[in-house]
Amino acid sequence: MSEINRFLCCLLAAVCFASGWSMASPYSVIPFPSGIVMNKGYYSLPAENVRVCLGNFRSLAGFVLDCPLNCSVVEKRGNAHIVFASDASISAPEGYRMEISKKGIKISANGEAGAFYALQTLLLMSSEGRDRSFACCTIADEPRFSWRGLHFDVSRHFRSVEFLKKQIDAMALIKMNVMHLHLTDGAGWRMEIKSYPRLTELAAWRPARTWQEWADGGARYCTRENPEAHGGFYSQQELRDLVHYAAARHITVIPEIEMPGHSEEVLAAYPELSCDGTGRGSSDFCAGKEATFRMLEAVLSEVIDVFPSPYIHIGGDEAAKTAWRSCPHCKQRMEQEKLSSVEELQSYFICRMERFVNSKGRRIIGWDEILEGGLAPDATVMSWRGVEGGLKAIKAGHDVVMTPGEYYYLDYTQDAPFKEPISIGGYTPLSRAYAYDPADPSISPEQMKHLLGVQGNLWSEYIPTDAHAEYMYYPRAFAVAETGWSRADLKDFTRFRTNAVALCSFLRDKGYNTFDIANEFGERKESFVEATHLARGCKVTYNLPYSSQWPGAGDATLTDGVQGGWTYLDHKWQGTMRDLDVTIDLGEVKPVHCITATFMHSEGAWVHVPQKMEVLTSTDGEHFLSVGTAWGYVTDGQPKILLMPFTVVTDGTNARFVRIHATKHPRPGAWIFTDEIQIN
Ligand code: ACM
Ligand code: ZN
Repeated sequence: MSEINRFLCCLLAAVCFASGWSMASPYSVIPFPSGIVMNKGYYSLPAENVRVCLGNFRSLAGFVLDCPLNCSVVEKRGNAHIVFASDASISAPEGYRMEISKKGIKISANGEAGAFYALQTLLLMSSEGRDRSFACCTIADEPRFSWRGLHFDVSRHFRSVEFLKKQIDAMALIKMNVMHLHLTDGAGWRMEIKSYPRLTELAAWRPARTWQEWADGGARYCTRENPEAHGGFYSQQELRDLVHYAAARHITVIPEIEMPGHSEEVLAAYPELSCDGTGRGSSDFCAGKEATFRMLEAVLSEVIDVFPSPYIHIGGDEAAKTAWRSCPHCKQRMEQEKLSSVEELQSYFICRMERFVNSKGRRIIGWDEILEGGLAPDATVMSWRGVEGGLKAIKAGHDVVMTPGEYYYLDYTQDAPFKEPISIGGYTPLSRAYAYDPADPSISPEQMKHLLGVQGNLWSEYIPTDAHAEYMYYPRAFAVAETGWSRADLKDFTRFRTNAVALCSFLRDKGYNTFDIANEFGERKESFVEATHLARGCKVTYNLPYSSQWPGAGDATLTDGVQGGWTYLDHKWQGTMRDLDVTIDLGEVKPVHCITATFMHSEGAWVHVPQKMEVLTSTDGEHFLSVGTAWGYVTDGQPKILLMPFTVVTDGTNARFVRIHATKHPRPGAWIFTDEIQIN
């Protein structure tokens, strides 16, 4: 958009604001349209009886009549306020053009999806009909990527069909087009399968409401008749209805059936499909038994019958593969198929399932672990463990959907952890989700066709209620939608955030429980300021090494003045699974009054504050005297993420060397995370 147009638009907005009425503008739309030209003037829709001529896009009638612009559908375009027209020159199947002139609103599209998305743009521009005057402009809009997905983990906590339809409505508004249903996992099987009825007779129910209670209570299942039973499943008829509802809104529902791991619930119902036949020893299907493949083929046949999606998601993540090493059936399979590792056995498993899915005219998609041991020839990869798996797959000629955990796992906390509900951890505020761009510079223009798009995932172990799930989706799903749809060069967080505040309030009016982005607390304040203190920049000697997995900034971390944020995933924190035992050399003898180290507590991630922190000082580096000990205590089971300073105060002892020895929490596998040791 030219500067002059931008100026005109701002001027118009200012005049409207000053005169007390607001003007609908494409600048308020999420995802941001790919081309906007502002013109002079405005066009006002009447308060009642907005006449809409749909042309060939009759399938829009229900949406137009239901929308809050107070529309009626008319046949003649001559006296219509809004006119839809087919235009074969618009090449993008989801693209559209909207021309708002002083005479009316004209929408052109080459297909129903484009016309539907134009209507969403109109609704968002007008704040759902509240603003009836539209700034004159031409919008030429089309998506950047074909996959703009949102993931629903209905295994860990079952969600009703009504809930899913409500989210489809929100997704459609922001032009998202893939609903990924994670239908199966240890915590519950959620789809009626007629050929294997115990999947829903037993594996869909558990004697615990929340995932946490279920996990703490030994991960047991029960039947529906049990008075303690919680859970549920979708009948095939309900799923067909959901698919139909989504399709009318140009959303494809992609079902996920987990294999070979994350399958405890299947093995509880059909223990003979596990390696040892008990169903309790492992969460992986036995890859040696033919019965496993018979069962999965029967299940996928029913899945394919219900879901018309081009892709079937076969999971593939986090299989332990441990039982496979000693299982005679698996060993025999490896011998027969000349497989030299369990990774190759997993690859055999996935390739075999791919052949089956392909034989039904569909394609498989799976988590990036399916790359290990050799990727199935036609598989599409969903990259979650960072972006590396996705990039590798793209370079090998495979299609990829990017959903890197550190940006797009919406189960991570979105604001300061002390004010947020219990979560799996992490810290992904809206700004971080928005910052991600999937077009890594290492992808060549030719390879870009393999980058299908982006997806936000909401794993729901810690998200028992529908309201909580919505709170985690919105507004971060807006960021995924904008990255999936809008031109990268037009992304602008300031504009986006303003629009996200408005869209949240708009969704709240419609009964969604969004996060209150307008009152975001934000990142830990200390992480923006450099700590200045006596030990700043001083050499640290490690009497015990830090973990190579979590080095922070290496040897400099503890005295570089950089304080960490709300998560150790920001790499500003240093981790160790031993005691923290370091000596800081202040360079010369000086009086030392106060020594403070801040430690993290994040019990779900095995991160604990130390039991105690002892401080010893020395003038020569050889003879140390203890000057005090600070004791730490966090109640066991405290699920919140806490940052806890440990401070030892002295009476101004003279020292050149300061040794800090923090004794780790007794829990086996406990970590210590520290960001800075401040000496004053
Ligand atoms: C995953 O998060 N295990 C795909
Ligand atoms: Zn086995």
